Amino acid sequence: MPSTIIAIDGPSASGKGTIARMIAEELDYAYLDTGLLYRAVGMLAMSDGINLEDKAAIAAFAETLSVTAIINKLSAPALRSDEAATAASKVAPIPAVRAKLLKFQQDFGASPPEGKKGAVLDGRDIGTIIAPNAKVKIYVTADTAVRAQRRWKELQKRGETATYADVLADLRARDERDTKRSAAPALPATDAVILDNTRINAKETFAEAMKIVSKALATD
Ligand code: DC
Repeated sequence: MPSTIIAIDGPSASGKGTIARMIAEELDYAYLDTGLLYRAVGMLAMSDGINLEDKAAIAAFAETLSVTAIINKLSAPALRSDEAATAASKVAPIPAVRAKLLKFQQDFGASPPEGKKGAVLDGRDIGTIIAPNAKVKIYVTADTAVRAQRRWKELQKRGETATYADVLADLRARDERDTKRSAAPALPATDAVILDNTRINAKETFAEAMKIVSKALATD
């Protein structure tokens, strides 16, 4: 039986990671947060002293990078920081970076770890590039101001001092870099179901997502 792939895409702070994790748990599928891969590359490039405004330097760095080094970095708590998110959004447009990560993501979907019968991948290009034949494609989104509000509250809980205005400006800049890049722009696949959670909470979003998943899985 080929593995069943569920693609969850969407912008920063849309809650796609939470939903993807909950779906994986519900179905006992493997879960991959592909944003972490880009965050790891961004942090590794920074530690190597690479100027993140220098596209050629990032591409050359990506060529030398081993996928194992990236995977070894995935559990680093620093990857959850806004600094790592910004670094990720600067390395993610570089085709050499995307090429380096492509096979790992596709293999994860096709042969999920621990013999799981399916995989949930979340990111920006899962439904368009990584797994265009995914059985289920959901694009989770919410209004920018609502996403910024959620991110700001999260940072406050962690004791960080960023203002709401800073968080909003940062989110807008990242959305702009993610959607306007020429390599795999972060846009919904034409056959994705759009799930807008501007006015609903995580639990309600999960319930809506499971309706979409169940319907798609029933059409074998
Ligand atoms: O989802 P996230 O915030 O961890 O993503 C960090 C950055 O990586 C963001 O700028 C988009 C980019 N990314 C991407 O280009 N493709 C993916 N599949 C996942 C993330």
